[in-house]
Amino acid sequence: MADMRVNLCGVELKNPVIAASGTFGYGMEYNEFYPVSRLGGISCKGTTLQERMGNPSPRIADTPAGILNSVGLQNPGVDAFLSTYLPWLRQQDTVVIANLAGHSVEEYCQMAERLDASDVDIVELNISCPNVKEGGVNFGTSCDMVSTVTSEVKKRCRKPLMVKLTPNVTSIGDIAAAAEAAGADCISLINTLTGMRIDIRTRRPILRNNTGGLSGPAVFPVAVRMVREVFKRVKVPVIGMGGISTWEDAAEMMIAGASAIQVGAANFRDPFAMVKIIEGLENFANEQKLSSITELTGTLMEWA
Ligand code: SIN
Repeated sequence: MADMRVNLCGVELKNPVIAASGTFGYGMEYNEFYPVSRLGGISCKGTTLQERMGNPSPRIADTPAGILNSVGLQNPGVDAFLSTYLPWLRQQDTVVIANLAGHSVEEYCQMAERLDASDVDIVELNISCPNVKEGGVNFGTSCDMVSTVTSEVKKRCRKPLMVKLTPNVTSIGDIAAAAEAAGADCISLINTLTGMRIDIRTRRPILRNNTGGLSGPAVFPVAVRMVREVFKRVKVPVIGMGGISTWEDAAEMMIAGASAIQVGAANFRDPFAMVKIIEGLENFANEQKLSSITELTGTLMEWA
């Protein structure tokens, strides 16, 4: 039987499948479908310094092969995360990843200090949310900003630092390299692609925020290309996400270069999606006679 464990910056995951931030809450509702201890890890909903109610609705629009969201980082704030949700998560025997989203470098730093003193396993720096007016994706689109926020957080938090990148940039490789040089222990990508849908009768955008972030199967080939580019550019582990819906997608993403993968929108369509992906990956690893699932990572043979 293939060993399904993966190691991300010193943290062992029982398998490479992680719930993507913002699609899984804190795991409590999904735990009614299956024990969330089945998962390699859970990346929790993006946490801000203060509680946020999020954007006005409508904040979800359907698309032919994906979902456009402008949730606007609705969350209870970092203190409620630490006092209410983390204690429950800690009892679930899975790796807990805190996803931090700030409006300023100072806010990221204040949260990083609180998380340093907590028992989360990994901190994921969300510098890629396209749905807030201040901060969010603005931190992830310039190498200088990526470098500043990553190094400032790194100074204040000894947890392994995963930096989550936006695809809404010209050179994802340059951005990833800036994050690595500033101290990122691993890189996760992609967050959503900015999009818009329009009601042709009212001639208004469907989303009250006008634009939103596209995720789901439509973005998968973009994500595979970007993960490949980042894998070739940095030495730290890469966590691939963006439209992964099946175990075949997960295997493809790992072959492109991902050490682990995150599953997002697929959880909405099928609450058991991640369990099926774990089982499918395990069967595939056995069929391929791998002794470890890690043997898949980065094994793409590109055409000359
Ligand atoms: C949101 O809450 O608007 C989505 C979060 C994100 O894209 O990072």
